[in-house]
Amino acid sequence: MEIINRIPRMMSVARELKARGKRIGLVPTMGAFHEGHLSLMSRAREMSDTVITSVFVNPMQFGPGEDYERYPRDLARDAELAFTRGVDLIFAPPASEVYPEGFTTYVNVEGLTDRLEGASRPGHFRGVTTVVNKLFNIVQPQFAFFGRKDAQQVIVIKRMVHDLAMGIEIVVGPTVREEDGLALSSRNAYLSSEDRKAAIVLRRALERGRALYNSGERDAGRLVSAIQSLIESEPRTRVDYVSVNEVNDLREPALIRSDRATLISAAIYIGDTRLIDNIVLNGEL
Ligand code: PAF
Repeated sequence: MEIINRIPRMMSVARELKARGKRIGLVPTMGAFHEGHLSLMSRAREMSDTVITSVFVNPMQFGPGEDYERYPRDLARDAELAFTRGVDLIFAPPASEVYPEGFTTYVNVEGLTDRLEGASRPGHFRGVTTVVNKLFNIVQPQFAFFGRKDAQQVIVIKRMVHDLAMGIEIVVGPTVREEDGLALSSRNAYLSSEDRKAAIVLRRALERGRALYNSGERDAGRLVSAIQSLIESEPRTRVDYVSVNEVNDLREPALIRSDRATLISAAIYIGDTRLIDNIVLNGEL
């Protein structure tokens, strides 16, 4: 398995693969692999002739005071893990190559990015869509793989691909969880053991929302309140948001409709660590 750092080299390898009719599957990541990333790589292996994983901690999607500096980085470990899942190539460019001096072009999906993560993290999605667009241009994938835990990211990227007719199939992998239900995230590494125990409340609260829906509750506001109070019952946590949104346009319905895929999502802080999770009712992303 080759690790490529330079954009021109990655572009020439991708061009050659395409010329040979190979279907390229790209798994874009920021590294610090866990089973969530690895399961996307396995899926990519099943669907593609060549699997490429990008590892790039993208400064443009982190806001001031966020964890860009301390985000875990260990390319040697990541490469070993990726190898076990049949990844053919890792593309790990330096930031100076992705954003050379004079870089002034951005991709922005409007509307969908004003809410949820976009409201809490201004500029985050502009960073995500700009870098994902650049990665797509460099790697020329037929398929790109993203995890459902970052539900809004999936919705925004799908919209970008559709609006700009990029002709790339976005494949969404399931959220992979610890045994007690905590969604795997590279940021879980920041949690102390007490915080780790407290973090499970996020999943429990969302599941409570699902149970209420299944027992007939349709009022989105009441569902949000129930989820929020359960999270707040854990003193180590602070709610950033709990929200009910239709998947299609992220509109906030007053009543949840059984014929519309609906995202129930939440973001919480435990100490300085911000965790997100979601469930989807009546369909998929
Ligand atoms: O989900 C992530 O890890 C990042 O947002 C992504 C898609 C790799 C873009 O930097």
